Amino acid sequence: HSAENFAGRILGWYDRAARVLPWRIPPNSGHVPDPYRVWMAEIMLQQTTVAAVAGYFERFTARWPSVQHLAAADDADVMAAWAGLGYYARARNLLACARAVVRDHGGHFPDSEAGLRALPGIGDYTAAAVASIAFGRAAVVVDANIERVIARHRRITTPLPMAKREIRAALAPLVPNDRPGDFAQALMDLGATICTPRGPACVICPVMTDCMARARGDAESLPVKPPK
Ligand code: ADE
Repeated sequence: HSAENFAGRILGWYDRAARVLPWRIPPNSGHVPDPYRVWMAEIMLQQTTVAAVAGYFERFTARWPSVQHLAAADDADVMAAWAGLGYYARARNLLACARAVVRDHGGHFPDSEAGLRALPGIGDYTAAAVASIAFGRAAVVVDANIERVIARHRRITTPLPMAKREIRAALAPLVPNDRPGDFAQALMDLGATICTPRGPACVICPVMTDCMARARGDAESLPVKPPK
């Protein structure tokens, strides 16, 4: 099966089924994503669910609509607004990152994974997600949902966390140069809505025909959890 074909089916499905989320630009709407909003969403989504993040994202971006506004905010106001999201190091890094972008980058987020990774609070996942979604870079974005989709499609039976290397290697050649950000978010949505941990809805999956786990009937058992 060709990489192009995989991405084409994933993007075609996304055009029909993308979740409408406050930080997203609808596919093919002609709008360009704001790196500040993409970055903020990805930081909030690191250890928190989409449902829990939505309201916080709306309040933060209404109150601090640009990286300049956030960089100039009082620490105590940002910490108070973050209350309830948890993992408070993220909020401290959020401010440190906004200030670094303003001080060291003229208020513009770096547009490469390496440049992004050098900022406070931005690790491998967030650098790849922002480079891909905000800047159209063909980065390899792997979160837990994407991990599950790929582990199943390629039937990677190595237990996590060892499987991560194989999953990344399997995904890399599938990432399209056109619409890589939509591709990444499509895989997230596929994992959240169809290729779910329990009871995956394989019959309506856009990549069912060549899913190796579906063929074996053992999708639900993948990815294999680490041994206790
Ligand atoms: N989880 C992390 N990033 C996400 C995104 N951009 N859309 C949906 N879920 C996500």
